[in-house]
Amino acid sequence: MSTLATNAPHVARTASFALRTTQRLSRALLLDRSFRFWVDELAPVASRAELRARVLSVVDVTHDVKTFVLAPRVWPGHLPGQWVPVEVEVGGIRLRRCYSISSPPNDPHVELTVKRIPGGRVSNWMHTHLHAGDFVRLGAPSGDFVLPETKPTKLLLLSGGSGATPLIAILRDLAHRRALEDVTYLHAARSRRDVLFASELARLSSLHPGLRVVLHLDDASPRLDATQLWVLVPDLAHRETFLCGPTGMMDAVAPAFLGFEGRLHHERFVAAKPAAAASGAGARIHLGRSKRTITTTGRGTLLDELEQAGERLEYGCRMGICNTCRCAKRSGVVENVLTGAISNEPDDDIRLCVSVARSDLTLAL
Ligand code: FES
Repeated sequence: MSTLATNAPHVARTASFALRTTQRLSRALLLDRSFRFWVDELAPVASRAELRARVLSVVDVTHDVKTFVLAPRVWPGHLPGQWVPVEVEVGGIRLRRCYSISSPPNDPHVELTVKRIPGGRVSNWMHTHLHAGDFVRLGAPSGDFVLPETKPTKLLLLSGGSGATPLIAILRDLAHRRALEDVTYLHAARSRRDVLFASELARLSSLHPGLRVVLHLDDASPRLDATQLWVLVPDLAHRETFLCGPTGMMDAVAPAFLGFEGRLHHERFVAAKPAAAASGAGARIHLGRSKRTITTTGRGTLLDELEQAGERLEYGCRMGICNTCRCAKRSGVVENVLTGAISNEPDDDIRLCVSVARSDLTLAL
């Protein structure tokens, strides 16, 4: 299935609208716990609420990155650039993370390309224990890091490290649609052995004259920053840019877009970490429904703090993207650690995974 497999804009818009409606329905089903319970009871393998998928194969991409090729029993479809929640059981505890989908929509299987993160419980478990024939649980695909209905005339796909995963899905989709005209793909990696999809990029650029692939290797060139970016992409100001990578790299190149920020679309791939000096230790969090009161330690976001205190909460990305952890703040002040934004109005919706307390709080939990 390809939702963008046509050049007719109205057809593509209709298909995209239908896909997003299906995804919204899937998310609604995921959030309905009683529905999930009954479907699981009646059909444990083919559950629609948990999109279970069998692992068909595991492919080494680099020394610390693997692609897991999955066959979901049902799949609502996705747009290139979207991500999906993945749930696995590690030591008897269900853990959930969101991973970008690296396969394009026309691919009969769903591919997740996962970097082994030092200390990362889910990525390490997947690399070590997830093999062909095993099952994982998937949530509904989601995310707005997607191309507009009509491909921009001049496009830059800019990735750092494993930020390449949503962009390779976009690139593969454009190749499938024969729409790789005036596309620059710039990938920054620590060294040549860290380049993701190296042979595929070489093949695509030899097949598609409209695709220019630029590799930036940290061990062979000055660090990629705004100045370097202008050197590598001289017509940057005219390109719609889709950027995904580690925070340091994204912050370093961001000044290059001063004056035409609207052309920059980005996706961050790091969990929010509150600054130690500003972590709100000692604030009391009152939970309105359970009537519990928890005192924060200052060692994490509100989601971390509540989990450490034994609360079991819904979450997905832990990066402020998916909204799974959203809850109403009845009173108090919180800071968004990604943006620095302060919420001090009653009944503001906040995302627990990217918020720290700035005063005592009451939450609708
Ligand atoms: S868990 Fe995704 S926004 Fe918080």
